[in-house]
Amino acid sequence: MAEVPVLTLDGPGGSGKGTVASRIAMLRHWRILDSGALYRAFAFSAQKLGVLPDDLLGIQRILAETDFDFVVEKTGEVIILVNGNDVTTALRSPDAGLAASTYASQQSVRECLIARQRFERQAPGLVADGRDMGTVVFPDATLKVFLTGTLKIRALRRYKQLLEKGFSATLAGVEQEVSARDQNDRSRAVSPLEPANDAVTIDTTEIGIDQVVKKVDDLLTAKLTQSNNG
Ligand code: DC
Repeated sequence: MAEVPVLTLDGPGGSGKGTVASRIAMLRHWRILDSGALYRAFAFSAQKLGVLPDDLLGIQRILAETDFDFVVEKTGEVIILVNGNDVTTALRSPDAGLAASTYASQQSVRECLIARQRFERQAPGLVADGRDMGTVVFPDATLKVFLTGTLKIRALRRYKQLLEKGFSATLAGVEQEVSARDQNDRSRAVSPLEPANDAVTIDTTEIGIDQVVKKVDDLLTAKLTQSNNG
C-alpha cells in the first residue's frame, strides 16, 4: 500500500510555515501537524510539574500521563489542548517559545516525541510544520520545503501576530527573542534547524504569502502526479 503523502515545511520562526501549512491543509483537506505546538505544550507541562529538560524519567512520565491534542479550526488556527484544557493563548507567548526551544534541544525529549508526531500521518495526507520534519521525522516525505526570510521580516511578522493575539510586545524585544531562538535551534547538537538535502528552499522575505502558497502547492501537485505515475 502506498504511504500516506506528507508535505514537510521547516524553517525558522516567522518564515511563514504556519500560515502556509494551514492554507495548503485547507485546500487539500489534509491534516496538520504543528510540531512547534507539541514542543510548546510539552515544555509547558514539564515546567508546571517541575521536570527539568535533562530528567529522562520525568520526561517519560509526562508523556505517559499527559494528553496532548490539537484541534484545527475552520480558519486553520491550531487549538492546543493539554489534558483537555485549552492552553493555546498561554502557549503562543514568547516565553513559551523559548521554553519549548530549551526542552527541544534535549535528545531524550525529541526521541520521546517522534512517535506522537508520526501518528499524525493519516489519510488523505499530512502537512507537517516544524524544524526537523524533513530531516528526521518524515525523511521519506513526498515534498520537503524549507522556508527562510531575513531576521527583520520574520521578527516583524511575529510582532504583528503577537499584537493580533492581544500580547503586548516591542519590535526590538521580539527581534531579540526570534534571534535567540534561531541561534538555539540552529546550533543544537540533535536535529538542528537545517534544510534536508532534498528540500526546496524558498526565501519569503520579498514574496507575498499567496505566492508562497501557490508555489508550494504547485510543487506538491507535481510530486504527487510523479509518484502516482511511478
Ligand atoms: O514553531 P514554534 O515557534 O511554535 O516552535 C517552538 C520551538 O519548538 C522552536 O523554537 C524549537 C522547537 N521545535 C523543534 O525543536 N522542533 C520542531 N519540529 C518544532 C519546534
